[in-house]
Amino acid sequence: MNKNNVKEYNDNRGHIGLEYGRDAQLYFMGHKIASLAQSFGTPLYVYSADLIRSSLASLKTALGDRPHLICYSVKANSNLSIIKLMRELGCGADIVSGGELYRCLQSRLSADGIVFSGVGKSGLEIKEALEAGILLFSVESEAELMLISQIADGLGTRAKVSLRVNPSVEADTHPYISTGREHDKFGISHTKIIDLFKKASHWKGIQICGLACHIGSQILDVSAFGNASKVLASIGMQLERLGFLWEYLSLGGGLGIDYGDGKEPSVNDYVRSILNEVPLKSTKIILEPGRFLLGNAGILISQVILQKSNGGKKFYVVDAGMNDLLRPALYKSKHKILSHCILSESQRQNTSPADLVGPVCESGDFFAQNYHLPRLNAGDYVVICSTGAYGFSMSSNYNSRCRGAELLIDGNFSYLIRRREKYEDLVRLELEYSEER
Ligand SMILES: Cc1ncc(COP(=O)(O)O)c(C=O)c1O
Repeated sequence: MNKNNVKEYNDNRGHIGLEYGRDAQLYFMGHKIASLAQSFGTPLYVYSADLIRSSLASLKTALGDRPHLICYSVKANSNLSIIKLMRELGCGADIVSGGELYRCLQSRLSADGIVFSGVGKSGLEIKEALEAGILLFSVESEAELMLISQIADGLGTRAKVSLRVNPSVEADTHPYISTGREHDKFGISHTKIIDLFKKASHWKGIQICGLACHIGSQILDVSAFGNASKVLASIGMQLERLGFLWEYLSLGGGLGIDYGDGKEPSVNDYVRSILNEVPLKSTKIILEPGRFLLGNAGILISQVILQKSNGGKKFYVVDAGMNDLLRPALYKSKHKILSHCILSESQRQNTSPADLVGPVCESGDFFAQNYHLPRLNAGDYVVICSTGAYGFSMSSNYNSRCRGAELLIDGNFSYLIRRREKYEDLVRLELEYSEER
């Protein structure tokens, strides 16, 4: 096999927050990987509060004195302690379900910082959000606008809404996480917003006070954000002539991160590309980052179970599976993989192409395919990098596998923020049918 077709397993250089120490051991923000794995078991998700803080700070610095609200996108990582940390850092939240609303309220995040997006909010979810007093609904269709108006009117209130525009913008990302193209299910076509405003602005249960969009996720070319804001700015100015009070402009999330290939957009360029297009300085900019805040603030530690070969191909089977981290199976995403201790020069030279796979009964259950892996032994630990966002939150119990634990580290401290599941947890909600009728 051509060596150029296979990817390097371990360049011994670490990754964001991950460094090899003088003892040749890998550390995540000062915590030794092997010790974390031994203390808390594997698979283990570990998040760094300091890395989350520094990403947020860079975004806030770029926004400067422009009025803004950062609504953390809860779907990226919905652990209560992560939401609590976001609240303490002054963030609001972007939610897409009643469950996420519940999590935010449990974390005592103030409802007046919550924006509710999503193409299919149920009547019950709308009612719950109105009763909680959320800041804004990001409305994705005329039917939904009508439903919100009716429910709010019935409750004797008026819902603040922004219209989520589908700007028909291409973002260079995986099709499953591209959301701003004309034929995507998201938002209201940019060609229909003005007519909808004319029709609905007098409806009793709503106050249209913003425009929103979210064009996708893991976007590295920031010009796509500029293109989307341009569309929204133009619609906003036309609406102003019709009496629209433009309080909020939400540009969603989507800013991409470095998954180990060194490709990473500049936060300043990102913010500039948005703000350049927005004429009104008084409009509050809402950003809804998820991946940008959490992605590189988290890792997944897993342990090698065994090595096997089939059809001339080598596999290392680890104890994390696609139920723990779905991204490689779902999006063919690439994550940098590091071993828990530095590789000697001879180990680095003596690599062979292999797949790193999980124990789940699916051939799509892999973390790396065709990687130059050094010889790994049963019991070794591997770190799957950049897994703080859309890692645990997309996990499942498929194959009746207990999900691993989650740990938050902050300076020298570590907090277990979700305990490892037990077999009892797997069946806790299930009821045995009875033959007695
Ligand atoms: C409406 C909305 N806002 C924000 C986000 C967060 O995106 P990201 O994690 O890429 O920042 C999403 C993700 O799907 C979304 O749908």
